[in-house]
Amino acid sequence: MYFPDLLKHPQFYNLKSTLLSCGRRSVRAYLRQTIAVPPDARVLEVGCGAGRHAGTFSARYVGVDLSWAYLSYAAAHRPGRFARMDATCLGFPDGKFEFVFCVGLCHHLPDAAVAAAMAEMKRVIRPGGNVCVVDAVVPASPNVPGRVLCALDRGEHLRPLERLAALLRAQGLRLHCANIPGSFPYQRAVFLGAWGWRVEKHPGPRAALTA
Ligand SMILES: C[S@@+](CC[C@H](N)C(=O)[O-])C[C@H]1O[C@@H](n2cnc3c(N)ncnc32)[C@H](O)[C@@H]1O
Repeated sequence: MYFPDLLKHPQFYNLKSTLLSCGRRSVRAYLRQTIAVPPDARVLEVGCGAGRHAGTFSARYVGVDLSWAYLSYAAAHRPGRFARMDATCLGFPDGKFEFVFCVGLCHHLPDAAVAAAMAEMKRVIRPGGNVCVVDAVVPASPNVPGRVLCALDRGEHLRPLERLAALLRAQGLRLHCANIPGSFPYQRAVFLGAWGWRVEKHPGPRAALTA
């Protein structure tokens, strides 16, 4: 069995994530510290995997993913509700959620599917809602371990920061943070589409593209 096949198992995926992050919970901690979501907001995570980010923002959490294995694990071990859906064709009515986010989804999708997924994420937020996208990008040189991990990643569409930023800018999202502190060896960028309440607790450490 190859490494990418092993990652299809939620327990192995969780183990890999914990080992690579050396036990740090950088994404979750960063989102909690910097993104303001009302505690009673209806929250959707698209591409939720095994549900690691369930409960990060609100108890009213719904996670959707394509993988039955991840969804079964999440339903048994994480708070919230889970359903199988394709990010590019969400089975929710318009305006169902106050906040929609995804972590690590875009690098699994080709450009057209990223655009379709973003259109769907915007469709299901109510007027005045917000969207947040967190994704790995090809790390800036000379991060050799990060580049090796990118080469081994199951996602076939890892992009440089500027490329992902351009794709998401076309959907109305802007760069909030170019690299979540503590993500090494990954480089993880955060983008916001903020049409409602003030979603940043404070401005991101690098709110503009510098490269
Ligand atoms: C890198 S994992 C991230 C999982 C989770 N967000 C996390 O941070 O642990 C990417 C997830 O996106 C899901 N995915 C890929 N393409 C998808 C699609 N078209 N619709 C929904 N989910 C998708 C995969 O099944 C996988 O669970």
